[in-house]
Amino acid sequence: MMWFRLKTFIQYLLKSTNQHGVHSPFVYRFVTECLYTKTSKKKLKSLRDLRQPLLKSQQELEMLDVGKGSQRFNSNTRKVSAVARNAGMGWHQSKLLHRIISYFNIKQTLELGTSVGLGSLAMAANLPNNQVDTVEACPNTSKFAKRYFEHNNLSHIQVYTCNFQSFLSQLPKDKTYDLIYLDGHHQKEATLQYFEQLKSHTHDNSLIILDDIYWSRGMQDAWQIICHDDKVKVSIDLYFWGIVFFKPELSKQDFKVRCLF
Ligand SMILES: C[S@@+](CC[C@H](N)C(=O)[O-])C[C@H]1O[C@@H](n2cnc3c(N)ncnc32)[C@H](O)[C@@H]1O
Repeated sequence: MMWFRLKTFIQYLLKSTNQHGVHSPFVYRFVTECLYTKTSKKKLKSLRDLRQPLLKSQQELEMLDVGKGSQRFNSNTRKVSAVARNAGMGWHQSKLLHRIISYFNIKQTLELGTSVGLGSLAMAANLPNNQVDTVEACPNTSKFAKRYFEHNNLSHIQVYTCNFQSFLSQLPKDKTYDLIYLDGHHQKEATLQYFEQLKSHTHDNSLIILDDIYWSRGMQDAWQIICHDDKVKVSIDLYFWGIVFFKPELSKQDFKVRCLF
């Protein structure tokens, strides 16, 4: 697994470009005005303040191993801080996700895989107009995240305690999201199946972000298949995330953009 990651990371470094290798005006603007910009420290203060207690919490949770599970834990009793650090969204990705929500003026978000809530916070802190639906199958983890959001008056985050499959099968057919962040159950077949279902809950301007596209060979395969999907117009490989856009007016292109922090 380590070798696979190292190999794919080197390949990414060799093939990725900055904005100068991007010949699509839409992607060029996205790279220069969103990916490569900085958010002011002042704007990020509430996000940082909301993350800190989770990164320090000594509270223990009895967790259900759902999806592919973490490769770092042996026991099911885990400290919130350890889960936040190992499975949760890092600071740089949080800042980036927060910027993406602002840049595209996202109003309806779906996150598959809440964990203790760091990803939801990135999409909701200081972004009161973005309604975040987030799904987590582990009941204790989901209860913990729900309480944390309530305690911090983040009523625009709605936590659903169920597995991804049952959430998606109960979703009204006409429900669409502006942004979907898929961060759980990192297996090829599962990812492809969720992607297929998620497509019908997107509109022309939606984007889907897939986490950990090089987590395994299976995830890399899934990412390649998704890039070739007829409905996908533009894909952007950032190594840690794969982002796809559906805008019908764009010509089909795949990009590897260097976005190391
Ligand atoms: C990597 S963590 C999510 C991290 C979070 N998005 C963040 O940014 O901090 C993945 C989570 O998805 C949950 N999960 C995995 N597979 C699932 C499934 N099939 N249904 C529901 N939850 C699942 C796991 O329990 C775990 O808490």
